[in-house]
Amino acid sequence: MAYTKKLDFGGRAFKDVLGFTVVHWGKQPWRIVAIVVLALLSALADVLTPLFAGRLVDALAAGAAGKELAWRAATTAFGILACLGLAGTLLRQLVFMNIIVLTLKMMSEIAANAFHRVQRFSADWHGNSFAGSTVRKITRGMWALDLLNDTLLIALLPSLVMLVGATVLLGMHWTVMGVVVGLGSLLYIAVTVGLSLGFVAPAARLGNAWDTRMGGALADAVSCNTVVKAFGAETREEARLARVIGKWRHRTRRTWARGTINGGVQGGMLVIMQVAILGAALLLWEAGKASVGDITFTLTMFFMLQGYLREVGMHVRNLQRSVNDMEELVSLEGQPLGVEDKPDAGPIAIREGEIRFEHVTFSYDGHAKPLYEDFSVRIAPGERVGLIGHSGSGKTTLIKLIQRLYDISGEGS
Ligand SMILES: Nc1ncnc2c1ncn2[C@@H]1O[C@H](COP(=O)(O)OP(=O)(O)OP(=O)(O)O)[C@@H](O)[C@H]1O
Ligand SMILES: [Mg+2]
Repeated sequence: MAYTKKLDFGGRAFKDVLGFTVVHWGKQPWRIVAIVVLALLSALADVLTPLFAGRLVDALAAGAAGKELAWRAATTAFGILACLGLAGTLLRQLVFMNIIVLTLKMMSEIAANAFHRVQRFSADWHGNSFAGSTVRKITRGMWALDLLNDTLLIALLPSLVMLVGATVLLGMHWTVMGVVVGLGSLLYIAVTVGLSLGFVAPAARLGNAWDTRMGGALADAVSCNTVVKAFGAETREEARLARVIGKWRHRTRRTWARGTINGGVQGGMLVIMQVAILGAALLLWEAGKASVGDITFTLTMFFMLQGYLREVGMHVRNLQRSVNDMEELVSLEGQPLGVEDKPDAGPIAIREGEIRFEHVTFSYDGHAKPLYEDFSVRIAPGERVGLIGHSGSGKTTLIKLIQRLYDISGEGS
């Protein structure tokens, strides 16, 4: 097996997994539209909150000058803030309700489809794959899709709206502040994405390969328990599993350590941004260019943005993890079916039990010379036939073809 240690900046896995996900989204187009629109509206409610928080404080600060007017302005801002909070919460609830339906339907389809394909893979494929590994690939990929949907639809998308909204709103107040926030956030996201894809993902892929191996080794040992007992080989099997577990632990520790370093870098960048934004706000206040309400607006906006940005880091990490976890499932999709029915095939119906081969050509994969070429035979119901031939002449293969463990090559039937 080829476990690549190279950094995957090309992100072929991302292309494959995201393409696979989008194709499945396409089966529920209206649900996707509803989720995206609702998620964007809920983010919009968050973006507008700091604006009215600033208005509220400005109204309170002006209270001494004109009591009645200030009170009205304050209560209006207060009412809008309450409505924004309520609207955001309700919209998010609607998003969750829709995503539950979307994801469960996708997970069911993916599991059913993977099973459909695996059943039709060739006997050689099954001979060369651990059942336990296959099960692990399917179930791990299925659950990773849950995380991927959440990350793409209800996490990254609203974060993006928050970021653009914050940059525009701050920029409208003070151009410099908008530039600091916009560039700072872009740099933050670029570093986060770079570290996740180039530093954490390669380690995670290796860790997953060993996770799959562990599933395979376990399933293998458990399903062969009678043989293990017959040879009194329990201790040997335990030692074998311990070696696999050791490798898995080593690889997973590396993945988790890299993830932690990634988080540390992100935390540091957020502190730098906080210092820059608050420092700039203080200077503006000093110069008489910002009111108390403006400072409140900036602070609220920053803390909201910080929450989203902190989460962008987590979402990118989740995106990378779910893509890695789905990679092996998606690769099942790309493998050719070994024994495939024609699209119009009906269910199998055996009536008299006649066996008929007509002009059959067959060769095992990788064999240049066919084992059978233009081979025809008819065995009537109840007829007894003896197969005679030297070892390797193809007696067992005839039975395997009757059982359809392999499909014939070429035109015969
Ligand atoms: N899964 C496989 N992949 C590739 N080649 C195979 C596979 N199974 C069998 N063969 C090859 O196909 C040929 C026919 O094998 P088959 O098992 O049908 O022979 P046989 O007549 O049953 O032999 P024997 O008398 O030893 O049982 C042999 O050359 C064998 O090596
Ligand atoms: Mg044989």
